[in-house]
Amino acid sequence: RKPKITVVGSINMDLVTITTQVPKIGETLLGKQFQMNPGGKGANQAVAAARLGADVRLIGCVGNDRFGQDILQHLRNEGVDVSDVEPVTDHTATATITVYNEDNSIIVVPAANHHVTASFVESKREVIAHSDILLVQLEILLEGVQKAVEIAKENGVTVILNPAPIQELPAELIRQVDYLTPNEHEQALLMQQLHDEDISGKLVVTKGSQGVSIMDGGLEVNVPAYNISVVDTTGAGDSFNGGLAVALSQGMTLRDACEFGNAVAALSTTKLGAQSGMPTKDEVAHFIQGGRNQ
Ligand code: RIB
Ligand code: NA
Repeated sequence: RKPKITVVGSINMDLVTITTQVPKIGETLLGKQFQMNPGGKGANQAVAAARLGADVRLIGCVGNDRFGQDILQHLRNEGVDVSDVEPVTDHTATATITVYNEDNSIIVVPAANHHVTASFVESKREVIAHSDILLVQLEILLEGVQKAVEIAKENGVTVILNPAPIQELPAELIRQVDYLTPNEHEQALLMQQLHDEDISGKLVVTKGSQGVSIMDGGLEVNVPAYNISVVDTTGAGDSFNGGLAVALSQGMTLRDACEFGNAVAALSTTKLGAQSGMPTKDEVAHFIQGGRNQ
């Protein structure tokens, strides 16, 4: 049976400018290239999991505009079930992204993503209750995330929370989730909020080219990243989360699931745009095999 993964999260149009120089405040520069790509952490994680062969449903909101229509069509083509994505009277969220060398900076305007309220998520209770894994991030309203996690826990559904972009989180929410997947920066801020609580057992910290660190049998273990030549890291974290969800839903150990997620993330960085480089299951298998043979 295909794993059932439900993503409650953001759906953005990424407006990407590739540049060799970053403007100072008040300055105008000529950039190199422009691209408009479907993105958003929720949609990205949904596409990552769908390409890996999972049965994926996305719960979220788009605006009543061209971006919303284009993105829905794109998600359908990717095999993501969008029956629970509702159009609302607002703009579709945008992410204005500057890609500079291999790095990027991003400004997100939430717009329709902030229509994902607790009552909206409550109306999707049955979908969440019947999943194997719930994947959530922090680009929608926190009350929407809290409701989704609450429904998942009431129904024994495993929860992965990717705390990005990081914000102050209720201790109860952190207690409820099974896995937390911050990057190093997000982890540092998370730790400041927690004081004494020990959440090391749920932490999966992504460290870019340094791989991922987890606790295994009480010890910190590093699962190394794959070496690959990078074009664009936008969406690498989302690719990892999608991969982690699929691997865990198939019963892999956390360590193996992280290794799988690392391969998915590495491949995703070889193309420009958050979703364009995301691999299929076969591509991951081939890549891991190749790595081992070298
Ligand atoms: O994680 C990458 C995503 O973050 C981009 O697709 C962009 O939409 C931003 O939300
Ligand atoms: Na990419």
